[in-house]
Amino acid sequence: MPLLFKRVKDIRNYLQELKCAKGKSIGFVPTMGYLHEGHKELIRRSTLQNDITVVSIYVNPTQFAPSEDYNKYPRDLERDMAICEELNVDAVFAPSDKEMYPEGFGNTEVRVKDLESILEGEFRPTHFRGVLTIVLKLFNVVQPDRAYFGEKDYQQLKIVEKMVKDLLIPVQIIPVETVREPDGLACSSRNVYLSPEERESALSIYRSFLLAQEMFNQGEYKADVIKQEMKRFILSHPHIKKIDYIAITDPFLNPKEFVEVGDRILIALWVGNTRLIDNWKIKKPETQL
Ligand code: PAF
Repeated sequence: MPLLFKRVKDIRNYLQELKCAKGKSIGFVPTMGYLHEGHKELIRRSTLQNDITVVSIYVNPTQFAPSEDYNKYPRDLERDMAICEELNVDAVFAPSDKEMYPEGFGNTEVRVKDLESILEGEFRPTHFRGVLTIVLKLFNVVQPDRAYFGEKDYQQLKIVEKMVKDLLIPVQIIPVETVREPDGLACSSRNVYLSPEERESALSIYRSFLLAQEMFNQGEYKADVIKQEMKRFILSHPHIKKIDYIAITDPFLNPKEFVEVGDRILIALWVGNTRLIDNWKIKKPETQL
């Protein structure tokens, strides 16, 4: 079993010794638990590239708005510990709220103003402040050499990269490609909310990416035309309640009028009462999907 730490001071002591006295490299995978194949891939990458792998499991309240799913977010530490053991994780950090936001916490916040209010930020205005604040706190606890983030949350990855660059944080951010179920649905802890019928409709997200890629392959480069066709296709499925956005941007999240290889399609929508996000990197026409 990996060592389980609940207190900041305990994991700091443990890591201090490994880093300073023994010169070990530290890989870090921050998570909110209920680990799935996507997390497993982050962990595998970390164990390959570092001497020690630390996984944090913490459902961070400050990144949820009051109307969101903080209370019902799935939690199962025992199951997560078993997965971490299977993958040779060295230490799990699973702090309490009191440990991360102790009494007297001054509501200090980290913000990347350029990126926090677009796309996801339009619908979840305080989300990324919560994410960045906890990620920086976790970085300060673990002080990793490398930290692993999934491309599934593409805007989160870009914002974390920007924070690290702007604040000169000495950690290397390693992006890891989205892991999909065999039928194309992106792995997410929130997939457990979907009924079988809703899950079937949620596949329209991945299929709309294939449709967009095919349009691009056939020479359609106008972002508006591609987005319109994706929208039409997705909305032809039952249980799709609302599309929050479909956007096509360059790799740094700037909107594009004409699509090129390497651009991103980002999408957020509601299937029943579940909000899903996903994204797709436009590939060269000859790429095998
Ligand atoms: O991606 C997540 O699971 C969370 O946003 C993170 C990075 C662990 C911060 O709470």
